[in-house]
Amino acid sequence: MNPRLLEAVAGAKSVAVITGAGMSRESGIPTFRGEDGLWNNYRAEDLATPEAFHKDPLLVWQWYDWRRQIVCNAKPHAGHFAIADMETCFTEFLLITQNVDGLHIQAGSRKLIEIHGSIRRARCTRCEWRGELPDVGLESLPLHCKKCDALARPDVLWFGESYDEGLLSRAAEFLHASDLVWIVGSSGMVSVPVFLADIAARSGATLVDVNPEEAAFSHLCDITVRGTAGKDLPRIWNTVRPSTGV
Ligand code: APR
Repeated sequence: MNPRLLEAVAGAKSVAVITGAGMSRESGIPTFRGEDGLWNNYRAEDLATPEAFHKDPLLVWQWYDWRRQIVCNAKPHAGHFAIADMETCFTEFLLITQNVDGLHIQAGSRKLIEIHGSIRRARCTRCEWRGELPDVGLESLPLHCKKCDALARPDVLWFGESYDEGLLSRAAEFLHASDLVWIVGSSGMVSVPVFLADIAARSGATLVDVNPEEAAFSHLCDITVRGTAGKDLPRIWNTVRPSTGV
């Protein structure tokens, strides 16, 4: 048991968790970077930018449809459930995830924001329509809007697009007032999560890094867990979990 972590958990009222792709790796969902990362075999420029979608919407939809089926066949693991449990133990709690797979929701997390959207939804490129997608592969691609028939797109944030201002300021405000922040399975190669972690660090929160490897966040963190989201996070959480919930 880590005494420093135990003390930080015991004294915490406002707790945040930031998760990245490594969170879902043990559920069978590939990360983006690292040895078996998606960006080793695919080019982000061809598949995850507004320009790529404009050039070849069918190709982009086929790639997202393939990834969505991996996600729909995956199940949350013990780490996802540990984070859902954290929500019940602190007065204030917020999970900020970069993941588009929806596994946190499936595990029971409710106080969360998905800053990169959801691969399980589509939205219209012209009107305000948004819709849940089925768990099976789509028969007719590229998808069109159910309301106005314009081209629809995956409801995810692509490279070169702006974050939702409302979501980002909610995350920033929460981190500013947090006592304890867990950062799980994120490389920090995308700058916004590092910026968010930096807000918490500057505001005096205790930061815990859960990652088998060093990440761009690591220098900001007070406590390092060189382990995985699926095995080590729930094991450690069980040793420091407050005995009474809120
Ligand atoms: N448990 C915890 N962390 C892990 C595990 C594991 N089992 N396996 C790998 N990791 C760590 C890696 O060491 C790495 O630091 O997960 C991180 C994965 O990094 P990325 O693939 O870069 O994922 P992420 O940081 O979420 O990427 C951010 O980049 O391509 C975009 O939009 C995409 O949301 C994504 C963003």
